[in-house]
Amino acid sequence: MLADQLGRPIKDLRISVTDRCNFRCPYCMPAEIFGEGYQFLDKKELLTFEEIRRLAAIFAGLGVNKFRITGGEPLLRTDLDQLIALLADIPSPSAGELDITLTTNGYLLAQQARKLHQGGLKRVTVSLDSIDDDVFKKMNGRGFGTERVLWGIERASEVGLGPVKINAVVQKGVNEHTIVDLARYFKGTGHIVRYIEYMDVGNLNGWKWDEVVTADEIVDRIDREMPLEALEPNYVGEVANRYRYRDGEGEIGVIASVTKPFCGNCTRARLSTDGKVFTCLFASEGISLRDPMRDGADDLEMEELISSIWRQRTDRYSEERTDLAPVQNRQAKVEMFRIGG
Ligand code: GTP
Ligand code: 5AD
Ligand code: SF4
Ligand code: SF4
Repeated sequence: MLADQLGRPIKDLRISVTDRCNFRCPYCMPAEIFGEGYQFLDKKELLTFEEIRRLAAIFAGLGVNKFRITGGEPLLRTDLDQLIALLADIPSPSAGELDITLTTNGYLLAQQARKLHQGGLKRVTVSLDSIDDDVFKKMNGRGFGTERVLWGIERASEVGLGPVKINAVVQKGVNEHTIVDLARYFKGTGHIVRYIEYMDVGNLNGWKWDEVVTADEIVDRIDREMPLEALEPNYVGEVANRYRYRDGEGEIGVIASVTKPFCGNCTRARLSTDGKVFTCLFASEGISLRDPMRDGADDLEMEELISSIWRQRTDRYSEERTDLAPVQNRQAKVEMFRIGG
C-alpha cells in the first residue's frame, strides 16, 4: 500500500476548480490586495474537467476514496455539475462508494443544488462564520447578508445534499461573541455546525496567536448554555472533534488545527487550480501534474510521479508549529484560496 514517510496512506483529494471568489474574507483574500486589477489565473492555465477526471482516477487507483471540490469559490466554475458527473463515474478503490463533497460559501448554492445532486454530489459543506448580519457582512468583505447563504443551505438539504455541514472560522474580537447564537440557530435542524480555529494559512492575513479562540473555549461557551457531551469520531483521521447536545437535538464539531493538530492522521492531498499537487495546507511549493500530463505522459507515468511525491512526504506543519519550531523563518506559504480548505 502507498504510504508517506510517516506511514500515512493517501485517502482524500481536495480539488480546487477556480482561484476566484465572490467574497473577500479578510482572513483569506483581503479586498485591498485582491482588487479590480488582481491577476487571477488565465483560462488555459486551469485544468480542464477531462484533465481533472483523468488525474482523479489515478489518485483513486492509489487509494483515494473521497474527493472534495473547493476553490476559491467552486460554484463560480461554469458547469460544475458536469465535473461532478465525470468524477462520480470513477470506480472506488474500496468496497464502499466514492465520497464526493463540495465546500462553498453558499452564495450561489440555491440555484445549483439540484443539478449538483443529480450529477452525483453526495454532501456539501457551507462556510458561514456568523448568523449575525452585521458580523457576517464584515467577515465576507463584500457586505453580503446571511439570507442567500441560509437559503442555499435549505435548498441543499431539500434536494438531498444533507446533513449540511456549516463551517465557521472563529476570530477573537471579530465573531467570538456570536458563537453561541450560531449553534442555537441550527440546533434541532439536522445541520452540523463546525467551528474552526483561526489558522496561520497563507501570508496575507497577518495571523497572530492572540486572535485564536481555542476549541476548548468554544465548546465551553456552548456547553454553558446548551449542555454537550463528546462523541466518538465517525472514522479514523476525522478532522472535527464531535459533540452532541445532551437533549438529543443534534451535534456540533470543533476543528482544533492550532491547539490540537491532527497531522498524524493526515491523509489529504490537494490539487491546485493549475494542476499542482500540494502535500500540506501549509506547503510553500506544489509539484505540477499538469505540465507532464500536457507533455504527453501516460497514465502509468503519472501514477509513478504521484506515488513518488506521496512516498517522499514528511509534512506535519501544524505539529511543528505547536512544538515552537522556527515557523517564522519558513518560506512563503501557499494561499488557501489556491488549494482550497
Ligand atoms: P468531512 O468530515 O468529510 O465533512 O470533511 P472535513 O472534516 O475534512 O471537512 P472540511 O474539508 O470542511 O474541513 C474543515 C476545515 O478544517 C477546513 O476548512 C480547514 O480549515 C480545516 N482543515 C481541513 N483539513 C485540514 C488539514 O489537512 N490541515 C489543517 N491544518 N486544517 C485542515
Ligand atoms: N483559518 C481557518 N479556516 C480558514 N478558512 C479559510 N481561511 C482560514 C483560516 N485562516 C476556511 C474558510 C472555509 C474553508 C474553506 O476554510 O472559512 O470554511
Ligand atoms: Fe472566498 Fe472562502 Fe476565501 Fe472567503 S474563505 S474569500 S469565501 S475562498
Ligand atoms: Fe495535514 Fe499539513 Fe494540515 Fe498537518 S498541517 S494536518 S500535514 S495539511
